[in-house]
Amino acid sequence: MEKTGVIQLRLANFRSYAFLDMALDESFVPIVLTGRNGAGKTNILESISFLTAGRGLRGARLSDVARRTGHVVSAEPAIIQLPARWSVSAGVRTRHGFSKIGTGTVDGSERRQIRIDGRTAVKQSELGEIMRCLWLTPAQDRLFCGDPVSRRRFLDRLVQAFDANHTNRLSAYNTAFKQWSCLLREGCSEKAWLMGLEEQMVATGVAIAASRLDVVERISAYLNTGEEALFPRPEIILTGMVEQALLQKAAVVVEDEFAAYLCRSRRAYADGAGLTGPHTADFKVIHAAKATEASLCSTGEQKALLLSILLAQMRAQTQEQGQCPLLLLDEVGAHLDAFRRDALFDILKNLPTQVWMTGTDAAVFAYLKNQAQFFNVEDSMLTLQKVA
Ligand SMILES: Nc1ncnc2c1ncn2[C@@H]1O[C@H](COP(=O)(O)OP(=O)(O)OP(=O)(O)O)[C@@H](O)[C@H]1O
Ligand SMILES: [Mg+2]
Repeated sequence: MEKTGVIQLRLANFRSYAFLDMALDESFVPIVLTGRNGAGKTNILESISFLTAGRGLRGARLSDVARRTGHVVSAEPAIIQLPARWSVSAGVRTRHGFSKIGTGTVDGSERRQIRIDGRTAVKQSELGEIMRCLWLTPAQDRLFCGDPVSRRRFLDRLVQAFDANHTNRLSAYNTAFKQWSCLLREGCSEKAWLMGLEEQMVATGVAIAASRLDVVERISAYLNTGEEALFPRPEIILTGMVEQALLQKAAVVVEDEFAAYLCRSRRAYADGAGLTGPHTADFKVIHAAKATEASLCSTGEQKALLLSILLAQMRAQTQEQGQCPLLLLDEVGAHLDAFRRDALFDILKNLPTQVWMTGTDAAVFAYLKNQAQFFNVEDSMLTLQKVA
């Protein structure tokens, strides 16, 4: 399989980078960025994540990404200037050959423009036809113990990678739910109106749950295959009400039941009760060999389970989409013991894609000596290192 990767990365006014022009060779060996806290490592990974649809690996507002200059003096008004524009552009090698892709804001607004090979793209999703990215960030270290909102977001981003309509369905469901909720809380009892919205919630809600189940099943087939056997095997269980119902009954039956549930819940919801549905869905992960829930596993075990899921997603995407996604692994070595870490590096260095990794300590990556490109990052400047 052809290797995928970035050959040139150019940033302008992106976070701490006034300007960056980084050229990379086409060997597509792993790229390791090391440096002190605040040096600018994660910003580089985030810039690459903006070469795909969405709001990048930090889920940031576009205005937060623009480079801030100036200073804040206590008790005086902040003197911070925001440049009107920021941009990330890249030359990438994919199975389609060479492409030039770029993104940025035009007027400091919350809309970003996307350019692909000299033309302006109509939709962000066009980027996905060129290249895709998967990432792991330190914020996900608490995924299994943290709040269900982040877990649901993680799940839905995973589903979106396989089902291009998933996000549209989610926003259609959320719009209908918001309107239904407003009507009821304002005391409206217009039945036809409520029923119309419930129909939309049922149609989109059951499709959302079905897609989540389908993608989890597809990914599960790739869990801990091959070299990944060194990592613990996670079992992913969707615990949402609609997802659970779909495991036992036909979709048409679940649709009827969900519609009846919405209708019955009207009065209680109007009085302030909550509503269960695809918008409250969650999942749990079991460490199969230990028969223990991930949330009860050690920090390192949780990280290893998360990596197993990420690698399975990568394998499934590679198989189904004919191209391996780029991997952006921020603080990849954190919490892993040396044995697991080196086993992971062994997997990563052989993938048909470019893997970007960061860490504060270069010694963590010693195992990759002569098999990766090492950059030292200091004050948002990158220096290629000859040896690890
Ligand atoms: N919009 C912005 N404009 C200017 N600087 C920014 C902006 N957003 C973030 N920064 C700064 O960029 C610097 C580098 O951040 P980054 O997250 O890349 O550091 P890092 O090398 O990953 O550090 P760590 O090891 O702590 O994770 C930080 O000092 C941060 O305050
Ligand atoms: Mg960082």
